[in-house]
Amino acid sequence: MQNIPTQESFSAPTTPPYNQQDWQKGYESQPHEYDYWIDNIEGEIPPGLHGTFFRNGPGLLDINGMPIHHPFDGDGMVCAISFKDGKAHFRNRFVRTEGFIKEQEAGTILYRGVFGTQKPGGWLNNAFDLQPKNIANTNIIYWGGRLMALWEAAEPHRLDPYTLDTMGIDYLDGILESGDSFAAHPWVDPSSKLDGGSPCLVNFALKPGISTTLVIYELDPAGKLLRRHAHSIPGFAFIHDFAITPNYCIFFQNTVSFNPIPFVLGFRGAAECVKFQPDKPTRIVVIPRNPESGESVQFFETPSGFVFHHANAFEQGDEICIDSVCYEYFPEVEPDSDFRQVDFDALAPGQLWRFTLNLPHKTVQRQLLEPRCCEFPFAHPDQAGRPYRYLFLGAAHQHRGNAPLQAILKLDLETGKRQDWSAAPRGYVSEPIFVPKPDASAEDECWVLTMVYDAAHHRSDIVILDGQDLSEPLARLHLKHHIPYGLHGSWSDECFV
Ligand code: CO
Repeated sequence: MQNIPTQESFSAPTTPPYNQQDWQKGYESQPHEYDYWIDNIEGEIPPGLHGTFFRNGPGLLDINGMPIHHPFDGDGMVCAISFKDGKAHFRNRFVRTEGFIKEQEAGTILYRGVFGTQKPGGWLNNAFDLQPKNIANTNIIYWGGRLMALWEAAEPHRLDPYTLDTMGIDYLDGILESGDSFAAHPWVDPSSKLDGGSPCLVNFALKPGISTTLVIYELDPAGKLLRRHAHSIPGFAFIHDFAITPNYCIFFQNTVSFNPIPFVLGFRGAAECVKFQPDKPTRIVVIPRNPESGESVQFFETPSGFVFHHANAFEQGDEICIDSVCYEYFPEVEPDSDFRQVDFDALAPGQLWRFTLNLPHKTVQRQLLEPRCCEFPFAHPDQAGRPYRYLFLGAAHQHRGNAPLQAILKLDLETGKRQDWSAAPRGYVSEPIFVPKPDASAEDECWVLTMVYDAAHHRSDIVILDGQDLSEPLARLHLKHHIPYGLHGSWSDECFV
């Protein structure tokens, strides 16, 4: 955000609680696929923990030894950790996308990646090849009896929830057509007021162009289409995530521009042509969920910044509050850079902000909720789109500056109290998954699951924390191998083993 004091708050302590070589090892490819009961466990798996933790992320950071340019270009690899009777089973499989199969057969890079991976042979071999590879690497959800690996620029892939075998591209029984996209950040509205209080899945698709089309999809628990409506908004948009309330979908149109020419001519990946525009405001787009409400789309403006992820949103009288992890600027992807050499100290940290929109007055107020470097927010699924009290995030170990995520941070938004558990100096956390305990009465009566890369043993752990007391993990499940840093995951109460 423009008005965050920069230099001072970004200066890191002299001895960082991490080691860059350690951190880099978490980005080694994992080409193997495993299937075993986890037997190396510290602590005890809670007997009541029953279900499956699915998570997705880039499994390959190279194709046959040829490095890809950015982790976001890596082929999706899904992990499923199934919990039953105090035991846990691990399985991982690559999503057999068309591109994955062809490249593994050819043993070489055959596709350009959105984040700068180029085919061998220089720009001449890349020019005018605008066909992206659907890498299915960003999220994995189970909805309507379907397990779906999601990547925001293309269709979902359906997997068998027991074996993680790829069943193919899923058009959702004709809701999608070939070439349609389906974003990687759906929300489940736990009690949709438009549907008599039944849950529904709300997602969007973004069709880029000189103006941008946002398509909203709402699906019932069987996966049937409830509502679909499209809206055109002016200008280019780079939108990864959105937020919902009972009545609205909320999008942040980040302040970036796009010059496609170096991409088309084969010099740069598409995302390398995105330029941050600090002098322009972020536009907040509020779309009514009920297309028959007669309400029009509303636009708001707030100073520049860049948002990947929203934690939650809720309505409060005439206001909508949106809590989001916001960066002072977009971390631009450079063609000649190596992501492993990133200088954390030189980048702005993600910080949690609350944006309060006043609908009748068309104003936006901002409040910094958490200055500590954080990402991957996760709140109670039953509070999605509603007032909520507790939020879990991945966070840096130290309270100031920018650094890799090594801690799980719990925020009490009512009292301001914070609690954390840190895996520093040699552990690196990923997204915390919120699993409500059976028969819970308090909002934070939950288990928090996260995958931690342990550089000391070059392996990954599944860590189970008690949501009401983060001080010591209830259990650390040591995998036999490492899993590269991932993106997003979800919990299903069904145990698929
Ligand atoms: Co995301």
